[in-house]
Amino acid sequence: MSYKERIDTGKLPQHVAIIMDGNGRWAKQRGEHRVAGHQHGVTSVRETVEAAAEIGIQYLTLYAFSTENWNRPKEEVFALMQLLVSTIHSEVKTLNENDIRLLAIGDLKSLPEDCWKELKEAMQATSGNKRMNLVLALSYSSRWEIIEAVKNIVSDLEEGKFSSKEITEQQFEHYLCTAGFPEPELMIRTSGEHRISNFLLWQLSYSELYFTDKLWPDFRKEDFYEAIVDYQGRERRFGKISEQVSE
Ligand code: IPE
Ligand code: IPE
Ligand code: MG
Repeated sequence: MSYKERIDTGKLPQHVAIIMDGNGRWAKQRGEHRVAGHQHGVTSVRETVEAAAEIGIQYLTLYAFSTENWNRPKEEVFALMQLLVSTIHSEVKTLNENDIRLLAIGDLKSLPEDCWKELKEAMQATSGNKRMNLVLALSYSSRWEIIEAVKNIVSDLEEGKFSSKEITEQQFEHYLCTAGFPEPELMIRTSGEHRISNFLLWQLSYSELYFTDKLWPDFRKEDFYEAIVDYQGRERRFGKISEQVSE
């Protein structure tokens, strides 16, 4: 039986977040330039988006470029930005055909102008789509996001919009880039690295973490479904004991 057939569609995560890692190593293994790994990674993005939409995932967040990735060699950063522009441009049609809405989180204003423009247009062009939300984390890091939230909260406090006593977890979440999104129940990281790398620190508080040794350019639909099946076999206790949460 395939992993897809083993999925319980009544127990799907609403939101899956992925750290797409291992493009550089994939290319190196083949004696190719790192950029070739990123290019092949686009196929994995396509497969994963399709896989998620097919089973009815509501939100798929892909970590595509971190704040820290700006520190890579400038040729690689440039190539990644170019790849982003060309991929977004060529995928808008498919996103619309499949009723998928494109969203982005991160310091988007720091992206090169052509990239920001392409992204904005794609987000506008897909804004009415309802089947799935595809969220790209771009120039994103969680510490940046939290600091931005704090700055905006302080500014609203100073303007007297609310008092410090009124700050709750729910209130705080309104100030994050993911305001209004369900929390990711499942976070997948490829390439055998077991770390969070500044991704959704607040939002991942209770996520199930799934790590695979597959390098991102090798990641296919069945790999995504395998992660979902693994997730569905777990017991999420949220601090309680097993007897309290089992039906
Ligand atoms: C992930 O692959 C893509 C980005 C971070 C943009 P890497 O480029 O990090 O690949 P490795 O980790 O060097 O193999
Ligand atoms: C995390 O991957 C960022 C993205 C996948 C976009 P990295 O490859 O940059 O992470 P570290 O630096 O190895 O932790
Ligand atoms: Mg990496």
